[in-house]
Amino acid sequence: MAEVGASTSAGAGGFGGVSAGGSPKPDAAKDGEGGGMDSGEGAGEGAGGAARQEPGLRLFFALWPDSATSAALHARARALHLECGGRAMRRDTIHLTLAFLGDTPAREVERLQALAAQLEGERFALVLDHVGSWKRNRVLWTGPSILPPALAALAQDLEARLRVAGFALEERAFSPHVTLVRTARVAPAAAPLTPLRWRVTSFVLVASERSAAGAHYRVIGRWPLQQRV
Ligand code: 2AM
Repeated sequence: MAEVGASTSAGAGGFGGVSAGGSPKPDAAKDGEGGGMDSGEGAGEGAGGAARQEPGLRLFFALWPDSATSAALHARARALHLECGGRAMRRDTIHLTLAFLGDTPAREVERLQALAAQLEGERFALVLDHVGSWKRNRVLWTGPSILPPALAALAQDLEARLRVAGFALEERAFSPHVTLVRTARVAPAAAPLTPLRWRVTSFVLVASERSAAGAHYRVIGRWPLQQRV
């Protein structure tokens, strides 16, 4: 199993001089910009789909938590928000991104669904035992200190198939994280964290939609992961 970060939170204090602790990298393409108190997502530029001319959908593949896990993640987000300010992610928007496609023509959805159906990923447990912060975009996130091989394989296989199919993905390493707070004032103090165990049994394709009420995520496909024998 690959080590991806330490198991405690980032150092205390303001954002001056705080390092994330874990390996996920800050997102260069977007700064947090959700609407209202409870943030949906960042306002990022799309990574670019197969074509950008026609109106499309803003798409990404993700792991979507079951309701007990999303409740626990939301509690973690609220606690971080109380400690560090910023905007906690809404419970219904909390997820872990596998691959970000950005603006993609709607006609590509069928091809993406067919591609996803061909993946043969395995179920795995994801232990979220780390909290980190990115100084540059003031995002607070939680992630695993140990990357489950099945998650690494799923992300790798998905990315490879998307590239072969001609989807333009950003050139950066997969950095498993669940964004919990955007535009935080300070980084969280280092503190022991109760590990949160998320049993991952499927992955999803999601369309990110914006309205006056803020960002909304619509799951437009879900594929099961196989039970390991
Ligand atoms: P984040 O959680 O670090 O903000 C929808 O925007 C999802 O895709 C978010 O989980 C976001 O990651 C992720 N994502 C990855 N690359 C992105 C990009 N260039 N712009 C916006 N979101 C991106």
